[in-house]
Amino acid sequence: MEPSVAVRFDNVERRFDGGRPAFTGLSLSLDAGTFSVLLGPSGCGKSTLLRLAAGLDEPQTGRVSLVEDGLDRSPIGGPTGFVFQDAHLLPWRTLEENVALPLELAGIDPEARRHLTAAAIARVGLASHEKKMPHELSGGMKMRASLARALVRTPRLFLLDEPFAALDELTRQRLDDDVRALAQDLRITVLFVTHSIQEAAYLADRVIVFSQRPARVVADFVSPLPRERTSLLRFSEAFSSFVADLHVALLRGES
Ligand SMILES: Nc1ncnc2c1ncn2[C@@H]1O[C@H](COP(=O)(O)OP(=O)(O)OP(=O)(O)O)[C@@H](O)[C@H]1O
Ligand SMILES: [Mg+2]
Repeated sequence: MEPSVAVRFDNVERRFDGGRPAFTGLSLSLDAGTFSVLLGPSGCGKSTLLRLAAGLDEPQTGRVSLVEDGLDRSPIGGPTGFVFQDAHLLPWRTLEENVALPLELAGIDPEARRHLTAAAIARVGLASHEKKMPHELSGGMKMRASLARALVRTPRLFLLDEPFAALDELTRQRLDDDVRALAQDLRITVLFVTHSIQEAAYLADRVIVFSQRPARVVADFVSPLPRERTSLLRFSEAFSSFVADLHVALLRGES
C-alpha cells in the first residue's frame, strides 16, 4: 500500500488582483492519514486552499509542501485525487471510460487500466453499471463515478470540494459513510470542504474553521466522536454538542 502524505502550509500568502487577499501568512499542517474538514464563510478561500494543496495554484510567498515518510516531496509528486461539487463526467464516454481517463492520460497500459478501473468502480459500489452513459446515472451515481475516477490512480492525498452539496440528504449521508470508509481503507490524507456543519461533524477527525478573508484559522477541533461513525450517531448528545461548537466557531469567523 502507498504511504500517506502529510500536507504543510507555511506562511502562505495568496492574493488575487483587486479585493482582499485570500491568505496572508497562513500556516497549517495536516497529519498523514487523517480526515480533515474545512468550514468557512463563502469566498474565504477554501477552494483556493485545495488548489494550492493540489499544486494547481501557487502562493506568492510561503510554501506548500507534501511530506511523505518524513521526506519533503515537494513540488507535488504522485497523484492527488480531486473531487468537485459537479461530477464533471464526459457525456460521450461510458462510466468506465470516464473512470479510466486519468490512467489513459498517465500512459498506463490497457491491461492494467482495465484491472484498476474495475477495482475503482467496484470500490464505490458501481460494479455492473460500467457500460452506462453519464445521462443514465442518478446524481449520487455520478458522484460515485467521480470518486472512482479520483481514486483510480491510488492518490495519497484526496481533496474534495463540496462534493455532495447538490444531493438529497440520504444520498449525501450514504456517500459520507462511503468516503470515510474509503479513506480509512486506503489510509489517505483527506481534506474535505463543506458548508454543512452536520456533515463536517460527522466526517471529520479534525475540523478547521476559517474566518472571512484573509482567511485565518478561528477554531481547530479534534473530533470528540468515536472513530467508527454510524447513522445513529447523528442523534446523540455528543454529536449535537459538537455541531453547536462548530456553529459558534463559524459565526465567530463571520463577524
Ligand atoms: N483565479 C482567481 N482570480 C481572481 N480571484 C480569485 C480567483 N480564485 C479565487 N478568487 C477569489 O478569492 C476568494 C476566495 O475564493 P474561493 O473560491 O477560494 O472561496 P471559497 O471559500 O471556496 O468560497 P465558496 O464557499 O463560495 O466556494 C474569492 O473572493 C474569489 O473571488
Ligand atoms: Mg469554494
